[in-house]
Order: sequence, then structure tokens, then C-alpha cells
Amino acid sequence: SYNGLALTPPMGFNDWAGFECNSQMNETLFTKTADQMVSLGLDKLGYDYVNIDDCWMQKDRDANGNLQVDASRFPHGMKWLGDYIHSKGLKFGIYEDAGYYTCQGAAGSYGHFQQDADLYASWGVDYLKLDYCYQQLDQFPGKSQSEVAQIVYTEASQALLNTGRPMEFSESAPAYVCCEGPDFENELTWLYQHGNLWRFGSDIYNAWPSVLENYSEGNTPGLAKWAGPGHWNDADMLEIGNGGLTLTEEQTQMTLWAEMASPILLSTDLSKLTPAELAIVANPDVVAVDQDRLGAQGTIVQSGAGYDVLAKPLAGGDVSVVLFNKGDTAQTVSTTAAAVGLPGGGAPFQVTDLVNKTQTASDGVFSAALAPHATAIYRVHAGGDKHLPIAASASVGTAD
Ligand code: GLA
Ligand code: GLA
Repeated sequence: SYNGLALTPPMGFNDWAGFECNSQMNETLFTKTADQMVSLGLDKLGYDYVNIDDCWMQKDRDANGNLQVDASRFPHGMKWLGDYIHSKGLKFGIYEDAGYYTCQGAAGSYGHFQQDADLYASWGVDYLKLDYCYQQLDQFPGKSQSEVAQIVYTEASQALLNTGRPMEFSESAPAYVCCEGPDFENELTWLYQHGNLWRFGSDIYNAWPSVLENYSEGNTPGLAKWAGPGHWNDADMLEIGNGGLTLTEEQTQMTLWAEMASPILLSTDLSKLTPAELAIVANPDVVAVDQDRLGAQGTIVQSGAGYDVLAKPLAGGDVSVVLFNKGDTAQTVSTTAAAVGLPGGGAPFQVTDLVNKTQTASDGVFSAALAPHATAIYRVHAGGDKHLPIAASASVGTAD
């Protein structure tokens, strides 16, 4: 990537979906989250970012034009918090906005990109999410919204590089400015050249239709090819633990986000995750699909009434296959080796169910009986395994 960072999709925590600007959004949330990421062992799985979203700063800058921390939420300041997060072996992310104000009306970064980047660097920031509320179109007469976005995001990106401190750059522009026809290719081109990941869709919220919507937006034709080491399409945060999804839907969000090579940013009180929820987010085999070093974004290779089949090529030739029942009634979903891009002569295929941990051999048909909103995720091994008995189909999914 342009800065050598984010060779796999970022993983960690961002507070927004779970807390917005409520009274819990303060220093203690982030120190406790850092503690829990370590005590739960999530850090060992790759969850390493602790990211602060909106509302950390005041509405006005100081006399020197510097951003001012909201001391009622962050009494020890950001350098202290960054040091705390780093002391746990984790990384520190922060939020700003490329316009006049943040979405919550605090001081935006426009006109101060270098000054702010230097400030983040002095605090030990490792990651910036740059939002795009309160756009400054009036500053660029005659330019389109998309052109203005390109100008300001390019400038902000350069400011981060100028600090000399490695900082991953998360661009929110396409969630506001994206993009049809020729604009689509043009916008993705500069996003790709100047950032590590970009939000392309709606803000996630704590209910099934939102998971479905962001999944669909993630499968916008033409988007997947932009994913790869150093640059990712961001389907927004995980709602696991926030109470709006069933356990099946929580597993499905994790499965789909991994298959799409989306960032995996949890956004909940980690201390309240149930054992079943923890098993979902800490499933090393599903995490490995997300973090696969090839960096391909899984795509829909087959669709039917209320279902999709996705395939994600993995490094070394394996394929991650997801069978997804989008509908509200149970159904069996099936696909074939050919449909997911595996060589016809490869059978029998060794198949691992990454959730149930069963292994079986398949003659080249992969299927699962799926409850409404459920997924199955299989790793189909490239080499096959001639020692396993050949089943009629993999048929190892659950309908819970
Ligand atoms: C926008 C972003 C969200 C969050 C809020 C903060 O809505 O899309 O992810 O950052 O702003 O105000
Ligand atoms: C498009 C662009 C290429 C490259 C790839 C990324 O094909 O034209 O320059 O950015 O996407 O996968």
C-alpha cells in the first residue's frame, strides 16, 4: 500500500456503534477495552486496535489552533491514553473529520490537516478515521463534490505521511460522496492510492436489516477488486454483543465480514460478551479467512431465492465458501466446486466447517441446511485428502 500498512484488514475496537457519545464514552471505556482485549486473548488473534470515534474533542480549537481534548471524558489526555494502550501491546486509533466539523459538531480538521496530523503523531496515534460531515464545497467553487473530496483526502493523507509516523488511514468519503458511472472508478482510484480502507455504505445499526444492507453494499459490483493487502472495503463495525441480533445473526455478521475481507472492529462492552458471542469473535479459523494474506474479497458466485453463495480465494489455493440463507424461512443451500472456482478434477475435496469444526470429504457438492439468516462457512482444501471417506455432500451446516 501507499504507506506499507494494513497488509491484512484492521482488527480491534471502535466505540461508535456501541456507545456513540453516551456517558460511557470516556477514558475508562478505552483502558478497560484494552485490558479486556488482552485478558480475553483477543490480541493474540489479531485484534490490536483500540480506536476512539467522535466526541473526544471540543467544539473550538485553542488560541494556537490546536484541537482540544474534552477533558471531562479524557481527563489524562490523549498522550497518556495512547501510552496506556501501547503498554498493553495494542495500537491507538483516533477520529476526525475532513470538513468544518465532525458529525457531532466538534472541531473538524479542514484547514488544519498538518497541524492535526502532527498532534496525533505526538500522542502516538497509529490509525486515523477521517469522516466527512460538514463538507467545505464553498471553498472550491466550480468543483464537484467528488473532486473536493479527492482534494481534501489527498491533503490529509499527505499530512499523515509528512509526520513520519506510520498511521493507517481510514477514509469515510465514499460513504458520503460515492459514486456512479465513471466517478466510481475515479473515486476508488484515489481512495486506493491515498488510504488503507474506506467506508462505502451506510452506518451500521443494531438490527438485522442493517447487517443485510451493509452486506449488500459490500457486494456492489466492481467494489471487490479494490480490496487487497494495504487497501480494504470497510463494511463498518460489528454489532456483536449489542443485543439487536440473534446469536445466529451475530455469527452471520462475523462470517460475512470475514468473507468480504472487511475490517473486524468490535463495538461493544467486551466484558459482557457471552461465551457463545466470544466464541464467534474469537474463532481463529474465521478470523484466518478475514486475515488471509492473499487479501481477496469474497464475492457472490451464485444466488437464488433468498440465498447467496460466496467464494473467497485464499493463499495457497484453498477457497472459503459461505452459504448464506438471507431469507426468513429455513432452507438448504447448495453449491458446487465449479461454482466456487475449484478445479473439477480436484474431488474428493477435504472440507472444514469453520464454525462446527467438523471435517469431511466432498465429491464437489457443498450444502447446508440453514435456519433463517444463518450461514455456513467452509474452508475447502486445495489438495483434497484422499484418506477421508467421500460423503455425498459436505452437509455439515447447522440450523440452530
Ligand atoms: C458518521 C460515521 C460514523 C461515526 C459518526 C460519528 O455517522 O459514519 O461511523 O463516526 O459519524 O459522529
Ligand atoms: C483497478 C485499477 C488498478 C488497481 C486495481 C486494484 O483494476 O485499475 O490500478 O488499482 O483496481 O485491485
